[in-house]
Amino acid sequence: MKERMTAQKLKTAKGQTPLVWMTAYDYSQALLLEEAEIDVILVGDSVGTTVMGYDSTIPVTLDNMIYHASLVRRGAPRTMMVVDLPFLTYTDVSTALKSAGRLIQETLADAVKLEGGRKIIEQVDALVRHDIPVVGHLGLTPQSIHTFGGYRVQARTGEGIRALVDDARALDDHGISALVLEGIPDRVAAYVTQHVSVPTIGIGAGNQTDGQVLVFHDGLGLSSRYPKFAKPFADVRGTVLEGLRQYRAEVQSRSFPDDAHSYHVPDKEWNEFWS
Ligand code: KIV
Ligand code: NA
Repeated sequence: MKERMTAQKLKTAKGQTPLVWMTAYDYSQALLLEEAEIDVILVGDSVGTTVMGYDSTIPVTLDNMIYHASLVRRGAPRTMMVVDLPFLTYTDVSTALKSAGRLIQETLADAVKLEGGRKIIEQVDALVRHDIPVVGHLGLTPQSIHTFGGYRVQARTGEGIRALVDDARALDDHGISALVLEGIPDRVAAYVTQHVSVPTIGIGAGNQTDGQVLVFHDGLGLSSRYPKFAKPFADVRGTVLEGLRQYRAEVQSRSFPDDAHSYHVPDKEWNEFWS
């Protein structure tokens, strides 16, 4: 069996074979990711859009994350699990410690992920000092959607690139274990990758990062719309729809269930019932 990834080992994986991360939100998905030897499972607050039906990650609560992370942990007991701290659960040091503490203790998460750089550096510092591994997340950070005014690619101006690089360096200096880079130009991600000590994990950030992460539904063809950067590696939606239509047709024609899928009682017992 594959050796388990840990926060400590992540740091030494930089510059080696690219790391493969994917999101999961429940037991059945986690079983599949562990069997496929995905390096790290991210229980993302994207659960808000993919599973809960919201149009952003803003409504997702800490209790939602704890619930979903517990399901994932039961399906993937041997895979490194990173869990998102959702919107407004790390606004100051004591809130961040309390939120991250619940995630770690109630779900057995291996690390927590927070969006932002210098503006949350005290929280990152406190978590790391209290032995909670932290994954950073910069670029198109969906919890800041109202500030960005939409899902727009970030770090596209000289000033924007400089701010992103400074945020990445600050997080790196304060002991994060890995850095997710989302929705930024490929060469900005490549530059950041060369200038931080921890592995960078890209999503919509080109192919020069130390690893990639994809949302389960986007990566497996389970969504109905895809962002430009997402590539469906399977057609789960098509397969499921085909199965559902077949099921419907066979029920309506009474060809399901057939004899092979039914229980039977011997004539003797049946006759006894009538006697
Ligand atoms: O919530 C999520 O799925 C994420 C990834 C897109 C990085 O944060
Ligand atoms: Na997220």
